[in-house]
Amino acid sequence: MKILIAIVVFMFFECAWTWSKGTKRFDGQPCIEMKPNHGNKAPQITDSPFSVKVSKLSVRQGENVNVVIEDESGNLKFQGFAIEAQTSAPSSIVIGTFLPTDTAKIIECDGNASAATQNGAKRKDKIELIWKAPSDYLGDFRFNATVVKSFSYYWLNVITEWIEVTV
Ligand SMILES: *[C@@H]1O[C@H](CO)[C@@H](O)[C@H](O)[C@H]1NC(C)=O
Ligand SMILES: *[C@@H]1O[C@H](CO)[C@@H](O)[C@H](O)[C@H]1NC(C)=O
Repeated sequence: MKILIAIVVFMFFECAWTWSKGTKRFDGQPCIEMKPNHGNKAPQITDSPFSVKVSKLSVRQGENVNVVIEDESGNLKFQGFAIEAQTSAPSSIVIGTFLPTDTAKIIECDGNASAATQNGAKRKDKIELIWKAPSDYLGDFRFNATVVKSFSYYWLNVITEWIEVTV
């Protein structure tokens, strides 16, 4: 019985924070997959109770934006997340870099630290990140996140408004 519980607990935590790596993205770059590896668990189709908030909607090249992932009501905690800054479709690319932090794992996408994910399955109220705009891009982008509340409950496409990179 104890062994069974240990196995179940292990599976739960293992799955709650694993993401596929190296998947070819729409822009052809290897990066993280925004969908977690949760077997056949489908994403929630209700509106996400979690949101991504940014400190500004216009940023100069090379300047920072503060990014916060949290539950608006302050009641729900989450275990996992993945986030990146994407330009608009159809030629969407992932841009910018997340600065190193103790509270998240920064993932390299083709040489640039342009995605962030959790560094453990501990339940969190909020995650604060700092993202630096690239110096060679001008135009719009938005943050696109996946937020994992638990193994069975996660939301894809948690996006911000469009943000403009200016000179
Ligand atoms: C990585 O970032 C640099 C500097 O912003 C940029 O010139 C380069 O295109 C980026 N590489 C990719 C693959 O996005
Ligand atoms: C968020 O990112 C995923 C993976 O790149 C992409 O398939 C999806 O279309 C994006 N969502 C939005 C609303 O742009």
